[in-house]
Amino acid sequence: MNIEVVHGPNLNLLGTREPGIYGRQTLAEIDLQLQAHGRELGARVRSFQSNHEGELVDFIHRSAEQGVDGFVVNAAAYTHTSVAIADALSGVARPYVEVHLSNVFARERFRHRSYLAAGAVGVVSGFGVDSYLLGLRALVDHLKRST
Ligand code: DQA
Repeated sequence: MNIEVVHGPNLNLLGTREPGIYGRQTLAEIDLQLQAHGRELGARVRSFQSNHEGELVDFIHRSAEQGVDGFVVNAAAYTHTSVAIADALSGVARPYVEVHLSNVFARERFRHRSYLAAGAVGVVSGFGVDSYLLGLRALVDHLKRST
C-alpha cells in the first residue's frame, strides 16, 4: 500500500511557526513518525511539501500516475481557498483524509470553510501531530476495507 502525505504552504516552518498553535515538532520529525506508523500498518508512506499551489497539483497528478493508493492531506491555507487542489484530488480519484494540526473550527471564520472536506473520506482536526497519525490509520483502514 502506497500512501503520500501532502503538506501545503508554511508547514516547512513547523517547529518555529506559532508553536502555541502548531507545536514544536518539525516537519521532518512528523514525517519520520508517519513513516514509522506506516510500517506498523503495512503501508509505505512518503511525504511532499510545497508552498506553491501548482506544485501541489502536479504532485497529486504524478503520484496517481505512479500508482499511489491514497493521500493524507494537510493543504494548510489552501484548504480554505483552493478549487485547484480539490479538483486535482477528485480528478485522480484516490481516497484521501484531510488533516489539520489545529482545530480549524475553533479559529477564525475563514478557516471554517474547506474546499477539500466534501471529497474526503474524513477530516481530523485539532490533535496536533496525532491528527496526521490518526488520519493515516483511518486511511489505511479504509483502503483495507475497500480492497
Ligand atoms: C492548518 C490550519 C490552516 O488554517 C492553516 O492555514 C495552516 C495549518 C493546520 O494544520 O492546523 O497553515 O492546516
